[in-house]
Amino acid sequence: MPQQPHAPEPPRPADALPHTAELHLPDRVVRVKVPPGGFLWDAAAASGVTLPHVCLQGWCLTCAARLVAGRVDMSAARRYYPADEAAGFILPCTAVPVTDVVVVTHQRDAMIQHRRQHRLPAPSGGKPR
Ligand code: FES
Repeated sequence: MPQQPHAPEPPRPADALPHTAELHLPDRVVRVKVPPGGFLWDAAAASGVTLPHVCLQGWCLTCAARLVAGRVDMSAARRYYPADEAAGFILPCTAVPVTDVVVVTHQRDAMIQHRRQHRLPAPSGGKPR
């Protein structure tokens, strides 16, 4: 039987690949692997990095961070606005990287200030875990 040439592998969608997240924490920089479709917060936790959190639903802003490189899908967040994205804010608890990303964590106060400046909902208090 004649040998058939191999058909080219279909390209894998970017979402099916793990991504690397470089997290700039207040005291150090860590790199974590984020599984396909995984949330950034969960990937950090799986690597031993517990980011600030309360709701884990993209609502309270406690985990707020700034995305300085790459892209994330924020569609799982309960409350996330185009102005948040335009300002570079993300909520790692509901952020799914779709590329490798670089993120500055611990931005809750800055995101609250941003929300207030844009007359968008922002929590008035509460302490992160
Ligand atoms: S923990 Fe509440 S928005 Fe992420």
